[in-house]
Amino acid sequence: MALIEIKNFKKSFGSKCVHEDVTFYVKKGECVGLVGGSGAGKSVILRSLIGLEKPDSGQIEIDGVDISKLSENQLINIRKKVAYAFQGGALFDSQSVYDNLAYPLREHTSFSESEIRNKIIVQLTEFGLADSIDLFPSELSGGMQKRVGLARAMMLEPEIILYDEPTAGLDPYNTKKIQELILRLKSKGVTSILVTHDMPTAIAVCDKFAFLKDKKISEQGTIQQLTENKNSLIHQFIEGHMI
Ligand SMILES: Nc1ncnc2c1ncn2[C@@H]1O[C@H](COP(=O)(O)OP(=O)(O)OP(=O)(O)O)[C@@H](O)[C@H]1O
Ligand SMILES: [Mg+2]
Repeated sequence: MALIEIKNFKKSFGSKCVHEDVTFYVKKGECVGLVGGSGAGKSVILRSLIGLEKPDSGQIEIDGVDISKLSENQLINIRKKVAYAFQGGALFDSQSVYDNLAYPLREHTSFSESEIRNKIIVQLTEFGLADSIDLFPSELSGGMQKRVGLARAMMLEPEIILYDEPTAGLDPYNTKKIQELILRLKSKGVTSILVTHDMPTAIAVCDKFAFLKDKKISEQGTIQQLTENKNSLIHQFIEGHMI
């Protein structure tokens, strides 16, 4: 059964139509790679999945609930189970790594500060960041900032994770670390959408691909299905992004 389902999604900004008719689904436990050129509207789709954008028409269903119909209050529950790992990391610059990770727990749970501290230590250890607990974002490398952003997105143990270019700009070591994290979460049953231009990572972690082009999902399927057809658009896209 589909845990995430986007049906006939349509979205314009002013007179600019970004999505005309986007339809795809993600089954529980799957990782779907959402790929497409810059400006194709990948981040808009991810933002819509946590209710930060409303479709002009169409449905965005999570576990059978159309979230585009929910109030801001009702969306709070959705945001507890759907984590969005933002494209730029989106850390709070004036707060330490500890406070960045504490934020979702302080906002959404009633854990005591000592419980919060224990959870953060476990999480940072898992992400290889235990030594950075008291540092500020400006004191971290880009790769570490990305990992802190992911660690924060996962503090509430979400069922669904939306990754927006988690490996962009990272060196091979940090890229591998992120791939391992995505695979580890997947093995725990987390459902995810991975937006990326990094095809080796997408091929390493995704079960399926959806290719966004011309305001719709123009092709979708497993990597084998899509690459068997050498004339397919996604085949050419993947070839062009393998370096
Ligand atoms: N809030 C907004 N107001 C106006 N236009 C927007 C807004 N958000 C996105 N857009 C437009 O929608 C289009 C798709 O943007 P989006 O950020 O989803 O692209 P993307 O596929 O994620 O690109 P990239 O790979 O560069 O991150 C762009 O043309 C962008 O300018
Ligand atoms: Mg984007």
